Amino acid sequence: MAKLKLQDIDTNEYPHINRGLEGIIAFSTTKSSIDGQKGELIYAGYNIDTLAENATFEEVCFLLWNDRLPNKQELDALKKKLIEERKVPDPVLDYIKNTNKDAEPMAVLRSATSMLADFAPEETGDSNQDYQNQAIAMTAQMPTIVAAFDRVRNGKEIVAPLKEGSTAFNFLYMLNGEKPGTQAENTMDLCLILHAEHGMNASTFTCRTICSTESDIYSAVTGAIGALKGPLHGGANTAVMNMLLNMDKQGEQADPVAFTKKKLANREKIMGFGHRVYKTFDPRAYHLRQKSKALSEETGHETLYEWSEAILETMKSEKNIDPNVDFFSATVYYSIGIKPDLYTCIFTMSRVSGWTAHYLEQAANNRLIRPRALYTGEKNLDWVPIDKR
Ligand code: SDX
Repeated sequence: MAKLKLQDIDTNEYPHINRGLEGIIAFSTTKSSIDGQKGELIYAGYNIDTLAENATFEEVCFLLWNDRLPNKQELDALKKKLIEERKVPDPVLDYIKNTNKDAEPMAVLRSATSMLADFAPEETGDSNQDYQNQAIAMTAQMPTIVAAFDRVRNGKEIVAPLKEGSTAFNFLYMLNGEKPGTQAENTMDLCLILHAEHGMNASTFTCRTICSTESDIYSAVTGAIGALKGPLHGGANTAVMNMLLNMDKQGEQADPVAFTKKKLANREKIMGFGHRVYKTFDPRAYHLRQKSKALSEETGHETLYEWSEAILETMKSEKNIDPNVDFFSATVYYSIGIKPDLYTCIFTMSRVSGWTAHYLEQAANNRLIRPRALYTGEKNLDWVPIDKR
């Protein structure tokens, strides 16, 4: 029998193949809502604009894990727990010290997160409580892993986490070896808030799929990191910065409009643009655009910002495609002195809150995730001995 071609498929028997699962509703969730036409994002009832203006990352973590905001006592208790869990076990630090210094930071974060499973908080017997404790531990430990690897690969001493301060403050302190100013802390905190949760994106779907086999939360998060790392997903922020820095190398010759048009003419993608759900401006990009503008002016990187705006205008006029969260986050991180290959790790440090919230939700009402594939190969072939193939 010849191979089945997709165009020959009996559409009565197989009415639809949703390439990329586009438009498929796979779960119900209380974690977030995206209106792709309006450009609206809600985390557990709260508009992202409200959270960006008022919340801290720690409050957002509580919100995602509990579907409500914490009161003062609850927030203080969560902050205390996060601080207590910041230290990373010695065998994980040994791995970070001994691995290839040229390894991708996301690959190191993925492997180290997987190792954390061997040192998970003691179990209480209440699985929901245990998942929450494990979620807190991973959220607390990821910044320590990222900062430690960056210091080791640059031949610097690892800086131990502080026993105080926000996640954002402590991360910048461990990364740079000095306490950050309020503006850098607030910028990092805003970025953590904006990246925390986003519906059924590829990495969250991966997390829920792993959870659905009743595998552990560390496996689910490790798998999710693998999914986020790709340039079509979280890896796009690093790609955006590399694109801008390559342009910068061209000096006077740099022409963002011609660059964008040429890429489009060659049917190549411009990183940081387009989205499966948003058909308008990503609401997170508004906040990051404002930050990028302000910080670029302050730090003398205006040209990078101006090029970003020129690319944006060209993408809009040529293709009617808007930027996503990864476009302006790149120049924001750059302006606070973070190396481009760490950008996706920062996304991970934030999204771990959303992934683990979805793990909790999936585990509470689980059914194995197991879709079907349409077989288009041949059938019943005769066996050919190896020396005859
Ligand atoms: C994230 O899902 C989430 O929620 C993800 C995320 C989250 O918070 O979790 O929001 C984070 O992953 C953001 C996306 C980061 N990725 C990029 O910036 C990479 C560049 N963008 C794309 O490759 C693309 O837009 C995707 C992957 C984001 C979405 O892909 P789709 O939905 O499969 O769309 P598509 O590739 O089929 O594109 C549809 C059309 C095509 O044109 P036509 O063939 O119809 O003429 O739009 C064009 C595409 O060529 N297009 C682009 C483009 N994105 C889409 N053209 C040029 N540059 C782009 N970036």
